[in-house]
Amino acid sequence: MSTISQDMTDRVHALVDRGASLPSIPALGLELLSIIRKPIESIDMRELVSLVERDPTLVARILRVSNSVYYGVRREVTSVSHAISLVGLDETLNYLNFYLIKAIMPECPTLKHFSADDFWSHSWSTAVAARMLGRPQLLVTAMPGELYLAGLLHDIGKVVLAVHMTDDFEKALEMAHVTQIPLHEAEMHIFGVDHALLGAHLLDNWNLPGWILDAVAFHHDPGEAPEEHREMAMLIQFANSVTNHFERTAGDAHTVPVLETAIVAREESAFSSPITLNGIIEEIGETLDARDDVLNPPEETAEPEAASEASQPEPKAETQSEATEVAPSPSTKRAAKKSVFRGILDSLRSLLD
Ligand SMILES: [Fe+2]
Repeated sequence: MSTISQDMTDRVHALVDRGASLPSIPALGLELLSIIRKPIESIDMRELVSLVERDPTLVARILRVSNSVYYGVRREVTSVSHAISLVGLDETLNYLNFYLIKAIMPECPTLKHFSADDFWSHSWSTAVAARMLGRPQLLVTAMPGELYLAGLLHDIGKVVLAVHMTDDFEKALEMAHVTQIPLHEAEMHIFGVDHALLGAHLLDNWNLPGWILDAVAFHHDPGEAPEEHREMAMLIQFANSVTNHFERTAGDAHTVPVLETAIVAREESAFSSPITLNGIIEEIGETLDARDDVLNPPEETAEPEAASEASQPEPKAETQSEATEVAPSPSTKRAAKKSVFRGILDSLRSLLD
């Protein structure tokens, strides 16, 4: 990773000395991380099929995804190649990398203001949103697969703190909750460093390029990222804010609002156009809603089939304490997302007027 001050590096090393660490990644995992970073047109389908077939867990995962209601199959999918052709290469890589990272990370303890389920849901959503920002029309230079990985890993330092520094992490969560400040600021008070810098430092062992590490390190403060990696950090800040506004979970309810993110404020950016911004936020909202059902099928959550939007009860106004102390059901979360989504779109429409 590039430019962080010696003082900050020393503080990260102090946490490492206290036991902060990431698991090493298996060889198959390194191959998956490498494949997703390639341009989609250069990925060899046969290579991916043989890679997946080396791990029965991954085979089971991708078959389950392809057989979900979302893909509308009439006959059960039983082969990996059929599953990948149905789900699509990029989507397959999204799911495989998500399941891989989730499987190798240690299980989080249950904390008052931190839920492992919400953490992984937010990581997944941010990754999917980030990948959508890599399309040519948005005039960004970052590759979609690399944006996906940076989105998936942006908050990985939180898991490290939750697992290895549980008591102090709880203090940071409590401070953020009581004083209504962003969690990364509370972490600076408690640890002298935040989950973003810690996570990026530890990810250096996973053979990831500097721009992904810097996007993780500076996702809360992209202006501090080295110039050559700043756009990517801005895009991850944007993806993080959009998904936080849809979900308001994972203890990070005070993230910068979408309309105040650095990429929106940048005049030469496509995101500074309200029409473009409106379109991408709307599309991210629709995509997250659909993918949410693939990751959390109704039969697993014991929830009734999501009712139509019109028949959903209006979610009550969400306060910080409600968001962190009461675990909402998946259907309540979906309804809340739609409500927040409408709020963001209303803000954008007022800009267009
Ligand atoms: Fe973060």
